[in-house]
Amino acid sequence: MTKAVRPLGSVTRGTTAPRRLRRADRWLVANWPALRSAPVPLVADLGFGALPVTTFDLATRLRRVNPHVRLVGLDVDPARVVAAQAVDTDLPVEFAVGGFELAGLRPDVVRAFNVLRQYPVDEVPRWWAEMTARLAPGGFVLDGTCDETGRLASWIRLTEDGPQSLTLAADLSGEPGLVAARLPKILISRNVAGEPAHALLSRLDEAWNRFAWRSVFGPRQRFAAAVAELRDAGWPVLDGPARWRRGEVTVAWNAVAPRPSR
Ligand SMILES: C[S@@+](CC[C@H](N)C(=O)[O-])C[C@H]1O[C@@H](n2cnc3c(N)ncnc32)[C@H](O)[C@@H]1O
Repeated sequence: MTKAVRPLGSVTRGTTAPRRLRRADRWLVANWPALRSAPVPLVADLGFGALPVTTFDLATRLRRVNPHVRLVGLDVDPARVVAAQAVDTDLPVEFAVGGFELAGLRPDVVRAFNVLRQYPVDEVPRWWAEMTARLAPGGFVLDGTCDETGRLASWIRLTEDGPQSLTLAADLSGEPGLVAARLPKILISRNVAGEPAHALLSRLDEAWNRFAWRSVFGPRQRFAAAVAELRDAGWPVLDGPARWRRGEVTVAWNAVAPRPSR
């Protein structure tokens, strides 16, 4: 008989909502070339919550690109797993009890949204390391946070070498810096003077305000102009206008990594 492995982590609130993670999911499809080329890419949706609605959203989106993708929803709460398994769906999604040890899977991608935000910040590096050590070669984790409806979101892309980038998905009905309220856990208390993340958000808002006149072309054009200015000023912006026009920008992690505490 095999010994059951206790999942790593603790049961937390299960709050979720359909389409809440759509911005990260679209970004994933656009930034994961192996989704198209791998015969059976494996994705773990870690911490799917009270109902697996965002897991179904992700399955629908990924299968449009690769119908053979395998998606496993993991949660540390066995009752949520049982409830998810009972949902009537045509989508070939599996559910299992699992935590940061990823239930013995070796996924190409782990989507962990609104999970680490409920853990103490000093535990984050340990849980990152647990997950990234179990990735398939070339794999990555998206550790992200969003608001209730998914209009505001941000996420860190992590590989076995550590964090690689931060993506901000702003709500352009207000200043883009308002995304600060939904930064990933490792950055949430770092939107203060002297921190690189604060410098980025402040520069973005300054540029956004300078380009107010661009509003005649719509907020997306205004945001794209603001990001172009940041890039021209030397910020390591990793993406281009097609994403900026969605109110999104990805920067290299070394530009926003928290200052080591003294
Ligand atoms: C707030 S819900 C997030 C639901 C969904 N991902 C979303 O963003 O809408 C967090 C879920 O993560 C689960 N959870 C917490 N820690 C976990 C861990 N270490 N591994 C797997 N699931 C975890 C909780 O039990 C809860 O169901």
